[in-house]
Amino acid sequence: MSQSNQIVRVALGARSYDISVGANNLDQFAGFVLGCGPANHAVIVTDENVQRPYAMEVAECLGGDGVETAVVAIEPGEESKSIEMASNLWQALLDLHADRKSLVVAVGGGVVGDLAGFIAATYARGLRFFQVPTTLLAQVDSSVGGKTAIDLPAAKNIIGAFYQPSGVWIDAATLASLPEKEYRAGLGEVVKYGVILDADFFVFLENNVDAIVGRDADALTEVIARCCRLKADVVEKDEREETGLRAVLNYGHTFGHAFETLSGYGNLLHGEGVAIGMCCAARLAARLGRVDEAFVSRQRKLLEALGLPVATPDIPAEKILESMRHDKKTAFGKLRFVLPDRLGHVELVGDVNEDDVVAALKE
Ligand code: NAD
Ligand code: GLY
Repeated sequence: MSQSNQIVRVALGARSYDISVGANNLDQFAGFVLGCGPANHAVIVTDENVQRPYAMEVAECLGGDGVETAVVAIEPGEESKSIEMASNLWQALLDLHADRKSLVVAVGGGVVGDLAGFIAATYARGLRFFQVPTTLLAQVDSSVGGKTAIDLPAAKNIIGAFYQPSGVWIDAATLASLPEKEYRAGLGEVVKYGVILDADFFVFLENNVDAIVGRDADALTEVIARCCRLKADVVEKDEREETGLRAVLNYGHTFGHAFETLSGYGNLLHGEGVAIGMCCAARLAARLGRVDEAFVSRQRKLLEALGLPVATPDIPAEKILESMRHDKKTAFGKLRFVLPDRLGHVELVGDVNEDDVVAALKE
């Protein structure tokens, strides 16, 4: 294993797994996998954008250590998180003679991770599963915490399971080929961690904007490991989102989901919607007297410096409210929001007046 890899351990009662974060380390993946237990067969699930070089590199590395590998590449994009694709993958595992000793390895972004995780959770009542996330969003969010899912046409992530991986292997160097829009969208989630959980991390981001925007490997390794630790701390306390604690991870998401949905598929990426949503949530918190205007502008300034959108899309307020009422955090039709009361701390706030919400949409 590379000297520079940072290990984040996720401890869930008697179980635990490691997230290894470094750069240019894909060739060391086999040691990590075999260190978690013996393996002689691995099915690597990836997408067509990531297959070469990353999934092939992972396959070569495992093959070099005597693990028989097969690579299955899906079409990139959210449409692949479907029942049809899940069914194709279950069949592929059967054709490849996968059994309960086989591993599933997800190499790709959140789409591949969520889908492959769901397949691993369900095939033969559960196969060991490793994640090799290759988008920033997947490295700081979706590969950590064990949420796996596919979509129904009318509802995203509605079919799924909590199914923790046996390990997560992060190579920050894979981000070099990530399109700029995808990279910046991932930074929206990164800023979120600072606001909700760690004021010092927020300051670190403010002080390292150039290195982060320039995708500096050392800065990225630090950022990713810190985000993974922060998310792991939450997941360790509320793995299945039962106490409400895990909901803090949804800061900016109630507004953000509505913007994402109403802007039309592909126009606003998830992290971009979250960035704008965080600006609205901060304004709402200011209206409710929880934070001051300086908080609102400081958060906005960092998001802008990192190249994220901050302006509310030109969509009628009533449509935005309607979309938000469908959000998972509504309680019997009442809007609830994750709102800050200081940098590094948020709370779930119920029964928010809709007039305040509409006012918070305006800059
Ligand atoms: P994605 O998986 O669609 O990847 C974005 C695009 O980048 C794709 O076209 C992909 O092929 C490409 N790509 C990936 N890695 C690349 C690389 N290194 N170089 C070049 N191109 C690369 O999108 P995403 O943003 O990673 O994930 C979004 C998904 O994650 C959604 O389905 C969402 O529901 C899910 N998600 C899950 C969780 C969770 O906790 N499980 C959390 C957040 C989001
Ligand atoms: N992305 C939110 C969660 O994992 O709970």
